[in-house]
Amino acid sequence: MIESTLWHPVAASEALVADVPLPVRLLSQDFALWRDASGTAHAFPDKCPHRGTRLSLGRVLHDAAGSRLECPYHGWQFDAGGQCRHIPALPSFTPPASHAVCTHELQERHGLVWLRLQAADTTPPAFGAELDTRLRKLLCGPYEVQSSAPRIVENFLDLAHFGFVHDGWLGDRSHTALDAYRIETTPQGFVAHGCTAWQPQSNRLSTEGSQVEYRYELTGPYSAQLTKLPQAQAGYQDVIGLFVCPVDPERSRVWFRLAVTDFDSAEAELRSFQDTIFLQDQPVLESQSPKRLPLSGGEVHCAADRSSATYRRFLNERGITFGVC
Ligand code: FES
Ligand code: FE
Repeated sequence: MIESTLWHPVAASEALVADVPLPVRLLSQDFALWRDASGTAHAFPDKCPHRGTRLSLGRVLHDAAGSRLECPYHGWQFDAGGQCRHIPALPSFTPPASHAVCTHELQERHGLVWLRLQAADTTPPAFGAELDTRLRKLLCGPYEVQSSAPRIVENFLDLAHFGFVHDGWLGDRSHTALDAYRIETTPQGFVAHGCTAWQPQSNRLSTEGSQVEYRYELTGPYSAQLTKLPQAQAGYQDVIGLFVCPVDPERSRVWFRLAVTDFDSAEAELRSFQDTIFLQDQPVLESQSPKRLPLSGGEVHCAADRSSATYRRFLNERGITFGVC
């Protein structure tokens, strides 16, 4: 499965705290994450090789012999490499390699922990704004959504819903006509240039409506970003990254990475604005049937759906099978 070779976000870095294993689910499989004494994160399948107990219910131990994850049932201890180091019922026994758990690769980027299930020549989706020190970075979420990751990405790329789902916020029922936009394909997906929308309140600080231009970018099968192009008066160039974890084919975890020019507002205010917007999307997303994104017909399109059509074609060409039908 091609999805196994991609990096997926599974948790916020700050949610994986020292000494507390964290259960996560990705591509319908369960994993236990934990940090060793140096703070490096590790991922094991969330299933003890002895009797199948969840390792995420166990404890993290550190001593002169190193850091280990201890199973909650019979106390077997596994080191960062997955090797079983100690079986308390047989203290003088050296566990063989067959008693090990397998390990998975992890990375931490954009405030998130990324997991890859199968080695490949891939990197987590880019988010260039992360490196821009003029911008303030903030993670919003996770939002637990009863829908497929591709439905969520397609919704993020969709401008025509603003006047309805986000009426009075990101759009206005009396300004719903969309200008034509241009799509350029990239190695990671595509860029949609010249997307404009009338916005009554394009960010938390704006007080009057304006025509806002966006650049949308698909950065991977389950990730995208939008850049609000500078406006003459405000000079805003905020970037919002969307990162979706495909938990199950019809269940997802969503984060937004904000890279914004607003250094004045409290974090809670910025989060609350993003929460409000996404909570407007969520019931609509969860109502869509089928929950998996149909790649082989069954839905009709109009010219305003060029981004969606390009996204569906991209998923088809990449051989994506998780969350689509
Ligand atoms: Fe994990 Fe027995 S089930 S130690
Ligand atoms: Fe929306």
